[in-house]
Amino acid sequence: MSVLVLETVDRIAWLTIHRPEKLNALNAEVLKELDCAFAGLEHDEAVGAVVITGSGEKAFVAGADIGELRELDSASARRQGLAGQAVFERIERMPKPVVAMVNGFALGGGCELALACHIRIASENAKFGLPEVSLGIIPGYGGTQRLPRLVGKGVALDMILSGDMVNVQEALRMGLVSRIFPAAELKAGTEKLARTMLSRGPLALRHALSAVHQGLEMPQEQGLQFEAALFGLLAASEDMKEGMGAFLEKRPAQFKGR
Ligand code: COA
Repeated sequence: MSVLVLETVDRIAWLTIHRPEKLNALNAEVLKELDCAFAGLEHDEAVGAVVITGSGEKAFVAGADIGELRELDSASARRQGLAGQAVFERIERMPKPVVAMVNGFALGGGCELALACHIRIASENAKFGLPEVSLGIIPGYGGTQRLPRLVGKGVALDMILSGDMVNVQEALRMGLVSRIFPAAELKAGTEKLARTMLSRGPLALRHALSAVHQGLEMPQEQGLQFEAALFGLLAASEDMKEGMGAFLEKRPAQFKGR
C-alpha cells in the first residue's frame, strides 16, 4: 500500500499519511508523494478543499523520519531541508483551503506540516511539539519561520528551545489550532467546516488566501493595496453577482468560480 492515501468525496480530498507502524513519520517517499498529490490537487477542478491527516488513532505525524535524518551529512541535510520546505510551501500556496486534521502527535516535521496548512483542527488527544533540539538539530521544514508568525516570537521560542510538547488546550490558547473535537467527532467536525467553505465563493476563497498569505509578507500599506486590487477583481466576477443576487432573493448561492 502507498504511504499516502487519497480519497476524494464530493469535492473534499482526504489525504491520509499512511505509515502507522512509524507513527506516520515523514520519510523521503512520503514527502515525494505529498508533493505529487498537491501538484495534482491544485489543478483538479473536482476538488475544492483538502484535508490532511495521519493513519491510525495515535499520530498525525510524529516528525521527519529519524532513521533517515541520522544518515545525512551537512550538504545533504541542507538539500533535504530545502526539498521539504518546497513541499510545504506548495501546500501553503494552494489556492483552495487546506485543513490539517490533527488526530494525535504532531511533532517536528508533523507540526511543521500542520503549520503549512491553512487551518488546524485537532482532536482532544492531539499533542504538538518541535522536539528537534533534543536530537541536536533545529526544525528544518519551516518551523522556525511559520511558528513565530502564527503564535508570536516568545511562545514559539519557548516551544523551539524547550522541545516540550503542548496539549491541545494550550495549542488552542496560543492560536496554534482553531477548533478542537473529541476524537470520535474530529472527522465530522472537519467535514462540516470543509463543507461550509465549499459553499462559499471559490474565487473569494482563492483571493482571501492570497490576500492573507502574501499580505503577511508585505508592509501593511502595500498589503492594503493588494487587498484592494483583489477586492476589485472579485467585483467583476460572476460569483459576486450570484452571491449578492442570492442574498437579495433569499436563496442559496450557486457559485461557479468565475
Ligand atoms: N522517525 C522515525 N521513527 C519514528 C518516529 C520518527 N520521527 N517517531 C516514532 N517512530 C517509530 C518508533 O521508532 C517506533 O518504531 P519501532 O516500533 O520500529 O521501534 C514506532 O514509531 C512507535 O513509536 P514509539 O516511540 O514506540 O511510540 P511511543 O508511544 O512510545 O512514543 C512518541 C510516541 C511520538 C512520543 C515517540 O515516538 C517520539 O518521541 N517520536 C519522535 C518524535 C520526534 O523527535 N520527532 C521529531 C523528529 S525531527
